[in-house]
Amino acid sequence: METYVVTEITSSGVGLAYFNRPEAYNALNTAVIRQLVAALADFDADPQVRAVVLTGNEKVFAAGADIQEMSSLTPMQLFAEARFALWDRIATTQKPLIAAVSGFALGGGCEVAMMCDMIVASESAKFGQPEITLGIIPGAGGTQRLTRTVGKALAMEIILANRWLNAEEALAHGLVNRVVPVSNYLEEAIALAEKIASFSPVAVQLAKQSITAAWQTPLTEGLRFERHNFYLAFASEDQTEGMAAFLAKRTPHWQGK
Ligand code: HXC
Repeated sequence: METYVVTEITSSGVGLAYFNRPEAYNALNTAVIRQLVAALADFDADPQVRAVVLTGNEKVFAAGADIQEMSSLTPMQLFAEARFALWDRIATTQKPLIAAVSGFALGGGCEVAMMCDMIVASESAKFGQPEITLGIIPGAGGTQRLTRTVGKALAMEIILANRWLNAEEALAHGLVNRVVPVSNYLEEAIALAEKIASFSPVAVQLAKQSITAAWQTPLTEGLRFERHNFYLAFASEDQTEGMAAFLAKRTPHWQGK
């Protein structure tokens, strides 16, 4: 079996996953998605890993779901395989997940980037949902996540008229966190992940869960969720340590429990 997703763990606790199917512009066939989901599950289970960066290469993050593989699919195959349930698991990653995007992030590639918590874009990044040109529509959350992020009018244009956003446009519309030169977009994403990795892993995950709830629930529910996670933070040794360290004017030593 080909290795379509390469992983490594840095000494500072950042898990790195690279799409590695360059000959097909990292087109996301089932094997790629399976390997990505497995890599993210391994990172979630590894206490050494405190934050994760997902990337492609300088030219392409991912040019979408594999059109070759999709071309002969029937609705019953999609139904029987619950194909997108696998994709959904990317968005349930517990640890903070940062996409480092350079070049094309199209179709399913753009959708995977939007499943991540943050996006660091290189100056060459291009975001689009070209499914309409194939006679289909986005199927891994694109119509929902893009609309919530950039608003209805622009989402309509991107999805119905195949309008692509360059990196600066993506920044202006809140799709990405920052735009950096191609030469160091990955370093910048890793530095952001390392910054997160320097804080209490418990507090980081509670905060991520709470922000994610803001997407998925009405305000009253989201506030209730935040309140519970706030209370839960006080069950952690990291809360005791963090506050004691502040009061003693020293650096906290996080235990992740
Ligand atoms: C399969 C793909 C592919 C894809 C590129 N390739 N994208 N193969 N699925 N999504 C392959 C090409 O067939 C080609 O292989 C090689 O990668 C390089 O692509 P070129 O087209 O020759 O390169 P270029 O002219 O530079 O154009 C780059 C590109 C273009 C603009 C990214 O490849 C393109 O438009 N790709 C499709 C983008 C797209 O429509 N994505 C949405 C897919 S639908 P060979 O063997 O010829 O060298 C989708 C639905 C998601 O994502 C639903 C939820 C799961």
